[in-house]
Amino acid sequence: MSAVMQEMQTDIGLVSTVVARSSLSFIDGEKGVLEYVGYDIDDLARNSTFEETTFLLWHQRLPSHSELADFTARVQSNYDLSDAMWDMIVSLPRDANPMHALRTLTSALALEDPNADDPSEEANERKSLAMLAKMPALIAGFDRHRKGLDLVRPDTSSSIAESFLYMLTGEKPTQRMARAMDICLILHADHGFNASTFASLVTISTLSDMYSAVTTAIGTLKGPLHGGANQGVMIMLQEIDGIENAESFIMDKLTRKDKVMGFGHRVYKSVDPRATYLKTFAEGIAQDTGNIDLFNISKRIEEIMDREVGAKGIYPNVDFYSATTYFSLGLDLDLFTPLFAMSRVSGWTAHCLEYLEDNRLIRPRCDYVGPHAKEYVDISQR
Ligand code: ACO
Repeated sequence: MSAVMQEMQTDIGLVSTVVARSSLSFIDGEKGVLEYVGYDIDDLARNSTFEETTFLLWHQRLPSHSELADFTARVQSNYDLSDAMWDMIVSLPRDANPMHALRTLTSALALEDPNADDPSEEANERKSLAMLAKMPALIAGFDRHRKGLDLVRPDTSSSIAESFLYMLTGEKPTQRMARAMDICLILHADHGFNASTFASLVTISTLSDMYSAVTTAIGTLKGPLHGGANQGVMIMLQEIDGIENAESFIMDKLTRKDKVMGFGHRVYKSVDPRATYLKTFAEGIAQDTGNIDLFNISKRIEEIMDREVGAKGIYPNVDFYSATTYFSLGLDLDLFTPLFAMSRVSGWTAHCLEYLEDNRLIRPRCDYVGPHAKEYVDISQR
């Protein structure tokens, strides 16, 4: 090992490495606190909207009345897709994983943007706004296409949450459903340097472009240890099939040292504050939609996990109760992670915009543990 490398600490999984400064989200994993630009997540979930929260993340302050109206109007005027994009949606294989579809379609947005590589701040914000506004149509459009349904164009007079549910179902959602969706979008909008945000920063730090950064992030979010966990939670709840089976199911998993989806977090060693808020919300919406049994199984799992592994700091994370919420809203299981992306795009782009203000290429080292000084053997001798 070289002298330079000897001075460096190997930190597998970047557990204790701080790679940059950020003013966007503050997380206190011990106390269970999450703030966006200083505002408590609970306060934002109760009082804000996803559009306002995105403005907050992008501009690091709350908008005035007219600024919010202007921002919302700009987002709404970007909801619709070009004919070429709608055609691309219906050209995709119906049995494709919606995350593969979303990643491909988001990447394709760059193809029709003549200024996709313009690195100016103004252009980067315009591209961020385009992705934020169009992702709901990409997700809902693909879902209708795979079900053989006619595509529904966005409702440019309503919020992102409302227009998304409208495109998905073809019907105007109730105010309660639209608000539930809006709150989920707020709660998932940002979360420090999680894996997908970090991946987007690695890409933007090469001075690539915003579309590439977000495409990278979508691919990273897809994994079951990150954004894919909410789908895993729902699969688990369905497998358990009755509250009486919860104890044996979970004990079996823990004995086999399998991870229970929706529990544990790299940062939170107390309760994830997003889960606390969602728990109450999930109960209400599950009650309204006849899914209270599902909610009760979740509560039972939480009790068992608390008894068995609570002392190790393993508690429900945001994915645990968002699964019940999304299911109660009528979403297919494999749309849970695309929905996460639809929200997190605001955080990914906010972090990229912030990082570009003082960009430095992200390029870590690895600790080489392989052999040295081996002699090349000709292929005829091997
Ligand atoms: N179920 C059971 N045991 C768990 C769980 C879990 N969900 N999570 C952690 N543990 C245990 C591990 O087995 C390990 O135990 P040990 O010390 O006896 O070996 C210990 O807790 C530490 O676990 P690690 O996996 O090393 O912790 P890490 O910080 O690397 O992982 C992670 C965090 C990936 C989130 C992990 O908790 C996990 O896999 N959870 C399930 C998947 C999930 O819900 N992901 C969503 C995260 S939130 C998000 O991305 C939005």
